[in-house]
Amino acid sequence: MSFVFHNLRSGAAAVSSDAQFAQTVMEGLSGDPKRLPSWLIFDDRGSEMFTEITQLPGYHPAQCEFEIFQTYKQTITDLLGKTEFRVIELGAGDGGKTRILLEHFIQHQLTFDYVPIDISEGAIKNLVAFLESKFTQSAMSVTGLAADYFDGLRAIRQQDNRRNLVLFLGSTIGNMELPVAQQFVQTLCESLNEGDYVMIGFDLMKHPKTLYAAYNDATGVFERFNLHVLDVMNRKLGANFVKDRYVQQGQYNPKTHAVESFIYSTQAQDVSFDVLSKTFSFGAWEAMQTEHSYKYTLSEIEALALKNGCRIVSHLFDANKNFVNSIWEVMA
Ligand SMILES: C[S@@+](CC[C@H](N)C(=O)[O-])C[C@H]1O[C@@H](n2cnc3c(N)ncnc32)[C@H](O)[C@@H]1O
Repeated sequence: MSFVFHNLRSGAAAVSSDAQFAQTVMEGLSGDPKRLPSWLIFDDRGSEMFTEITQLPGYHPAQCEFEIFQTYKQTITDLLGKTEFRVIELGAGDGGKTRILLEHFIQHQLTFDYVPIDISEGAIKNLVAFLESKFTQSAMSVTGLAADYFDGLRAIRQQDNRRNLVLFLGSTIGNMELPVAQQFVQTLCESLNEGDYVMIGFDLMKHPKTLYAAYNDATGVFERFNLHVLDVMNRKLGANFVKDRYVQQGQYNPKTHAVESFIYSTQAQDVSFDVLSKTFSFGAWEAMQTEHSYKYTLSEIEALALKNGCRIVSHLFDANKNFVNSIWEVMA
């Protein structure tokens, strides 16, 4: 079986994604308050750091999703049946949770394609190489795409009638503001075929102290991850952030229903950006928001599915009902 990697972000696409990065930073730092979306963190190193987060015992969104995959791998296998199918994973990262499912499919001698898509080229290259080293003898074909979600989806749209299962894990949907999440789900469902399945991982609303603990680990992994965005801007935009002049903290905001992460400038300072030909000033203890992780209720999840023409097949919960992987079927 084949194991291939395609970079859809090279050449002209790389220029356009660099321009998008620059414009997003320009807008985010020009605003009051300053605010940067979390996808800016995910260069190759940022992706590796996120893998460290998924290994933190106190980071419940990842631990719950690992548990759900272990518990329900046979349920998901039964849903797909024995005919050939395709698993597409949006924002796959290291594919750590999905591996549980892939191994189970392989043990049951199913024939399928796995298409992980991620903006992090390094993450996808590593994932394809890892799967090739472990599963060469299986009936799984892997096509890794370094691409934006929908560029990747467009690239694999084919004329066969294989059923697709699209995975969007890691509570990544929570990083989107609600109108952006709605638009994302709408575009996703419109680009799939009737009968395809979508499985999305949602972190559920819970005690704010539990949320605080999950996003403020004692070992500082979260802080290093969030501060990494400064390294990315230094590298990509010729900025001169001095990282040890900044600290980070996350907290639940009841007004936005999201855990919001802030980077605080510990002193008044100017930061220049060669690529933007621009200098931004930070006041002492000025906060810049770098992460937004929305916490859903079950009724919001169901409304999102129904509004976008999907039938809810199943809600797969962890034992403590902290998290849900919701499976939907795309209807006509
Ligand atoms: C929160 S992490 C989740 C990773 C993995 N799915 C997991 O559950 O551990 C989000 C992932 O989405 C990727 N990503 C963010 N924005 C993206 C985009 N527009 N297109 C493709 N991938 C994206 C990031 O590089 C990162 O690997």
